[in-house]
Amino acid sequence: MIAFTVRYELWSDGVTKKRWLKLPPGTKIDTTDPDHWVFPVGTKLWKEFSTPDMLRPFETRYLVKLPSGKWDMVGYAWQHEADVTIAAPGGLTDIHATKHDVPSTEQCHVCHDGVKDGAIGPSLYQLSKQQIDGKPALAELFARGLLDKKIDEIDPPGTGTVQDALGYLHANCGHCHNDAGLWATVVPMRLRLRASDTTPESTWIYSTTLGKKAKHVLPGGVDTIVVAGNPDVSQLYFRMAKRDLEQMPPLGTEDLDSKGLATVKAWILGLK
Ligand code: HEC
Ligand code: HEC
Repeated sequence: MIAFTVRYELWSDGVTKKRWLKLPPGTKIDTTDPDHWVFPVGTKLWKEFSTPDMLRPFETRYLVKLPSGKWDMVGYAWQHEADVTIAAPGGLTDIHATKHDVPSTEQCHVCHDGVKDGAIGPSLYQLSKQQIDGKPALAELFARGLLDKKIDEIDPPGTGTVQDALGYLHANCGHCHNDAGLWATVVPMRLRLRASDTTPESTWIYSTTLGKKAKHVLPGGVDTIVVAGNPDVSQLYFRMAKRDLEQMPPLGTEDLDSKGLATVKAWILGLK
């Protein structure tokens, strides 16, 4: 198993996460489309959840690509007393007296089928500037024969707050709001970065949000996705700042991400 980290983490109410990847011997990840990597049958991935005050993890999530090309997805809750985990395909709420929920298999699919091929973290932007065993992650995966070609690291376009906001939205929203997965046709807005993005203005995050009317107008009338200089009437920010049926992301979080909100707010305030 290869332990990996992602450059921009999905906000999960502040819990600590660890991630691992394992490919079947002799297989490689197909990166022909740099924006949508395709994984070999038999690929396995794990993500483990814990809090700093707990000695052991409380949930481990598992993805495996089946011979059919579909992914099996399930969350396992740790039973600390017996040192075993129990599969929870139906999901569990508030485990180990925390607010943490194990998502149901159906909920795993809502997020993970949003990308073209099931796995979200192992990808161009997310592995850039990360390390595997102390070496640059993308180069190391290639050196171990797990990537089909050598790939250069990439940064989200822009600098400072602009770059931070683009990375944040890519990681927290782009796995649903893109052109290839389950939600590709639900709204025209796209919040995923592409390998071909060179400037902030060339990204979908600018071209499909700035001054654009939302397909879904919320009660109260916040109808524009991003209004330059005005976060409060920008539906993108407005829905990030909610935790109810209209919240974004729609699942996987009960607490506001104050740092993420501050980043996106500063970005919108700086837009002209
Ligand atoms: C709210 C959306 C969401 C839900 C629900 C969700 N995931 Fe994920 N998952 C993500 C995102 C985004 C990443 C990558 C970013 C990260 O790890 O911080 C990820 C990462 C992972 C990883 C590490 C490999 C990878 O694809 O990056 C595994 C394994 C995983 N999830 C399994 C599951 C399983 C199993 C379930 C259901 C029990 C589940 N996830 C539910 C969004 C979600
Ligand atoms: C699990 C998939 C998923 C994730 C993750 C997600 N969204 Fe959404 N989003 C949807 C779906 C489905 C809709 C359409 C239904 C609706 O409007 O509620 C939507 C609609 C929207 C809309 C309305 C667009 C329009 O034209 O009407 C905005 C704005 C939005 N999302 C912002 C975000 C932001 C910002 C994030 C990240 C912080 C995010 N979303 C993460 C699934 C997702």
